Amino acid sequence: VRLTNEQIDAYRRDGFLVLPAQFDMAEVEALRAAFARDTEQPGNHLVVEDGSDEVRAVYASHLRQDAFAALVRSPRMLEPALQLLGSAAYVYQVKVNAKPAFLGDSWSWHQDFGAWQIADQLERPDLVNVAIFLDDVDEFNGPVIFLPGSHEQGTVRSGRRDEHRSKQHLDPDDIALTPEQVAAISDRCGMVSAKGAAGSVVFFHPEIVHGSAANMSPHPRRLGIITYNDTSNLPRTSEPRAEYLVGRDTRALAVEDDADLALSGARFTVR
Ligand code: SIN
Ligand code: MN
Repeated sequence: VRLTNEQIDAYRRDGFLVLPAQFDMAEVEALRAAFARDTEQPGNHLVVEDGSDEVRAVYASHLRQDAFAALVRSPRMLEPALQLLGSAAYVYQVKVNAKPAFLGDSWSWHQDFGAWQIADQLERPDLVNVAIFLDDVDEFNGPVIFLPGSHEQGTVRSGRRDEHRSKQHLDPDDIALTPEQVAAISDRCGMVSAKGAAGSVVFFHPEIVHGSAANMSPHPRRLGIITYNDTSNLPRTSEPRAEYLVGRDTRALAVEDDADLALSGARFTVR
């Protein structure tokens, strides 16, 4: 899947780009099933909401679930990501933000690169996020809200707050922009929420300001996010963070023939 020049220009201008209907329902179902299986496996890759057992996020499902392993290599994710990066790339991070019906909490206003600068000492914001909707996303179930064009100003906040919500990964709460910063940026940029049917994909820049409200609707909002990093922009920490947070296989990914994700899960499904 190659992006047109107009689509690339829109991404550069806005800091995000929505492509509807990239994956069909059988593929979405395969990813949902893989996600559900992955939440059954105990481990640090499971992040729960403060004060409850509700799953907030699951990391690195591509290391355990075939459907996610296929997803990160899918040319529908990878090929546009390589176009937007203009360099070789590897999988830096994979997560699903679960946001269950009625109970999914909000995600504070933040810029992703702030976290990765602090935690992994990445030198440059030469990454791209590719999010896939595992549910229909509407105004009710907590869509991601972007401040279009806000990536242009670079990373606003440096440092994390002292009272971390989490030690290993950085929750957006830990690096949240102040209300004054968000107000000033939104005056200039406005706000857009990314909505669409399950199977849609959103590319977004690591420095775009974004966040999302709690899900008080009766419908879940599961959002898969693959982050690709330039292979020449590796973490510079002496001790890398755990592999579920920061990819260790930094070899450049090659674009392969497109494959149906629904046919990729057999090994795990039969277990
Ligand atoms: C969310 O899941 O709503 C937040 C996504 C993000 O911070 O990348
Ligand atoms: Mn984010």
